[in-house]
Amino acid sequence: MGKVLIVGASRGIGLALTAEFLSRGWKVLATERAPSAGLDALAAGAGGALQRATLTLGDRLSEQAFAGGLGGSSFAAIVMNAGIFGPAHQSLEASREEVGALVDVNALAPVRLAHRLMPHLAVPEGVLAFMTSRLGSLSENLSGGMDLYRLSKAALNMLTRSLAAGNEVRGLTVLNLHPGWVKTDMGGEAAPLDAATSARGLAQVIIDAAGRGGQHFLDHQGATIPW
Ligand SMILES: NC(=O)c1ccc[n+]([C@@H]2O[C@H](COP(=O)([O-])OP(=O)(O)OC[C@H]3O[C@@H](n4cnc5c(N)ncnc54)[C@H](OP(=O)(O)O)[C@@H]3O)[C@@H](O)[C@H]2O)c1
Repeated sequence: MGKVLIVGASRGIGLALTAEFLSRGWKVLATERAPSAGLDALAAGAGGALQRATLTLGDRLSEQAFAGGLGGSSFAAIVMNAGIFGPAHQSLEASREEVGALVDVNALAPVRLAHRLMPHLAVPEGVLAFMTSRLGSLSENLSGGMDLYRLSKAALNMLTRSLAAGNEVRGLTVLNLHPGWVKTDMGGEAAPLDAATSARGLAQVIIDAAGRGGQHFLDHQGATIPW
């Protein structure tokens, strides 16, 4: 059991992942954009195992300040979970501002931050996990729909591929994770999975990946998803 960093832990899957790792006896550094009721509630029962930090993806000063404040911290796993759906219309008529914000938060910022955090990932068994989506798979897109969100997660997959290719020599493991369709603010009420069930599976997948090396696109049960 080591220490895990979870980026975007105020609610939804990130909060459930934080609870799951704490229940397994891990230490967790959980980030939030502003103090959240979700992490307040977890902190009350976590003793010293839960640390919190402020971070807004897409805000360069916030990203730099967060990375710069980590000192000598080392993590067995880093989970880039934060993400947004983008404009509800999901139309190609979207403005440059809408597309820019979506791609920055979902694709560029997590990978930009990952580069900064690389010195804080334990070697050689560190796991760097990105919360992508099955909707970002090119080969699995047989229906279309949710096109802007798909675009952002496909872009995330491509940027993580470049990052993984450049770090193969270090032997770390890069995971692109699909959490399932999960009942959260983003997933909605119709989703079949609750966040705790998804998080239990995701945590196991992350723990099992330590030392595996390479890059893998997996769902919350460890099944491979085609790129
Ligand atoms: N739910 C699903 O069915 C599903 C399926 C596939 C993939 N995913 C992916 O799983 C991840 C978590 O989704 P979720 O369903 O838990 O979503 P959610 O309930 O909407 O929670 C999103 C989380 O991301 C944080 N966040 C958003 N923008 C941020 C930013 N600019 N900087 C820092 N944090 C930010 C939010 O913080 P605030 O509270 O401050 O807004 C919140 O903690 C996302 O990457 C999502 O794309 C979800």
